[in-house]
Amino acid sequence: MKELDLDWKNLSFSYYPTDYNVRCTYKDGKWGEIEVSTSEIIPLHISASCLHYGQESFEGLKAFRGKDGKIRIFRMDQNAKRFIRSAEGTMMAPLPEDLFCKMVRMVVKLNERFIPPYGTGASLYIRPLEIGITPLIGVKPSTEYLVIMLVTPVGPYFKSGFKPTKVCISREYDRVAPKGTGSIKVGGNYGASLVAGEKAHSLGYSVMLYLDPKEKKYIDECGAANFFAIKGDRYITPASESILPSVTNLSLRQLAKDMGLKVEERNVTLDEIPEFDETAACGTAAVCSPIWRIDDLDTGDSYIISDEDKAGPVTTALYNKLRAIQYGEEEDKYGWCEVLD
Ligand code: PLP
Ligand code: COI
Repeated sequence: MKELDLDWKNLSFSYYPTDYNVRCTYKDGKWGEIEVSTSEIIPLHISASCLHYGQESFEGLKAFRGKDGKIRIFRMDQNAKRFIRSAEGTMMAPLPEDLFCKMVRMVVKLNERFIPPYGTGASLYIRPLEIGITPLIGVKPSTEYLVIMLVTPVGPYFKSGFKPTKVCISREYDRVAPKGTGSIKVGGNYGASLVAGEKAHSLGYSVMLYLDPKEKKYIDECGAANFFAIKGDRYITPASESILPSVTNLSLRQLAKDMGLKVEERNVTLDEIPEFDETAACGTAAVCSPIWRIDDLDTGDSYIISDEDKAGPVTTALYNKLRAIQYGEEEDKYGWCEVLD
């Protein structure tokens, strides 16, 4: 296997070409054989339903090179289940969980030389996606689907890494509709968030902190990540039908409990922000990204939560614990990581 000369420690969260991707097609009511491809291109009919009507969903998970040199994939069963829910929510054929996991293992092994070495803080991002490929003009579901899994080595999602960022609130933008597609991972949600995201960036914020789209009263989602806050001995995170149930948040809630914190999943109003000791965004890409300040662009209120230069102690402890499990430094007592042979 050819050694790669990549600047692993300074990787950003962007696409870097790798050797292979894997693909599987659904046709005549069934999934075919997994195909291995070296091409970065897909042949697609100009009238495919994914292009016109957004019949698309994706996932994001990571593989890590552990302290012991072994490869660990984090909680892929959870991503497989969410991929099924996203397919069902867009009338696509759901990829069975065992086939999802088989494809993930395969694409990781095939691209093993792109898994960042232990100690660099980087990881291999795995991006499964599903698209409707039947040529259509009427608005209806495809009968044929393509699942592709690609991988790319990544560093931190935010340029600052684990350093705190500031976020903003604006009632002018919603990411999703109240009873819409917020709880599944479909491309349309992200296309719809670009204007708000670019607005936040142009004003010097890392992301838009969305309020619930119905009442604009509660904190909902933090860009492409969930939101959590620490208040005394409590880990507080929004309960909402318009946010994506995050695998990272699910894991942090367990780790928070293990650390003796009380976990609250409930509505979180803006009035409560001044009472928070720490706030952060969490997700596969974002891991745990501390937020030091929240600016409300509509009211002019500015909430300074914590130190601008340093993450709070609980967020830091949660981050360290999660990373230690993912890199095989600490016991994986819940069996979250699959170790590849
Ligand atoms: N919320 C949104 C909108 C996301 O895109 C993501 C990323 O997947 C998350 C939350 C975090 O979810 P997870 O921890 O499963 O990656
Ligand atoms: C993830 O955290 O995996 C995401 O999907 C976030 C973003 C890159 C879309």
